[in-house]
Formats: sequence, structure tokens, C-alpha cells
Amino acid sequence: MSGPALYDGLWHRLIHQGALEEARMVVGVAADLQIAQDTAPLQALAEMALEHWKGRTLVHAASEEEDLYPALAEAVGQNAVAALREEHAQLRRLVEQLEQSLVAGRYGEISQCLTALLGATEEHNAHEEAVLQQMPPQWPALLQARAAATNDASGACVEGEGASPLIQVRRPDPGQDG
Ligand SMILES: [Fe+2]
Ligand SMILES: [Fe+2]
Repeated sequence: MSGPALYDGLWHRLIHQGALEEARMVVGVAADLQIAQDTAPLQALAEMALEHWKGRTLVHAASEEEDLYPALAEAVGQNAVAALREEHAQLRRLVEQLEQSLVAGRYGEISQCLTALLGATEEHNAHEEAVLQQMPPQWPALLQARAAATNDASGACVEGEGASPLIQVRRPDPGQDG
């Protein structure tokens, strides 16, 4: 999903919540199965969890990196967005670890991997929502208007180097603590 649903803080939070509800359910059942040492259903559940994170969370992250984060960087600065990108990288590493545990048949690690993945996803979502909350309400509409204007001017010219950012959010001076 890309465009306005990503830019709008409320819609974005709803996307996160929908995915997290599914993830929490899968992680909860996996923990029960691991305690019961019920390997076959645990394997099936871990495959479902992989499908969930690859098909929803990582696809969502890729859309953000392509569509949302460049615009967000103009407003809140590259450093703030670099931190969000690093969290995405961490999520990808955790998904890879889960996949490796599953492929190697190390079922004893599955629940631990899933708990780490869920925690990292929750933290990242909360961080991202806090950054989006800084944006003024008119920001999604301004982005849409700019995208429409860019499409209208298709191939006509190259943007000037001095193009001003759309909206800048006031950030604390990094040299001043507190
Ligand atoms: Fe994200
Ligand atoms: Fe997100």
C-alpha cells in the first residue's frame, strides 16, 4: 500500500494495528505449542508467521522506504528517517533468523525468534507513528497535490537544485540538550 494511507497518521496506525493483531495471535499460539513441544503444528505456525511478516510487514516497510520516507526526510530530517530505516533492517534480519531456524529444524528457537520479531515490530511502529504525529494535518493533501503536479509536468523539465522542501517540522538543535 502506498500514497495517502501511508502519509496519514491515523490510517497508518490502523494499518499497523491490523497487522499486529494477526502477529500477536500467531506468536501467542506459537508460545503455547513450544511449551507443549508440539513440533508439527509449531512448524506450520512458523511458516504462517514467516508469510505474515514477509507478506505484510516487510512489504509495508518497502513501500515506506520508496514512497513515505523520502517525503518524511524533507520534513523531519535525514537522521530521523535513517533511524527508521535501520529498524526496518533489523526487522529483515529477524525475519531471516526465523527462516533459518525453521529451515534448519531448530524448533526450540521459533518462539524466541517470534517474540523478538513481535517486540521489534511493536517498537518500530510506535516510533514511526510518533514521527508521523509531528506532521501537520494538511501534509497528506500537500503530498498528493505535489504528486499530481509532478505527473502533470511529465518530462517537461528537471527540478531545480534549490527546490524548497514541502513542509519542515521544527527540530531541536542537536547541539542543545534538553
Ligand atoms: Fe516502517
Ligand atoms: Fe508503517
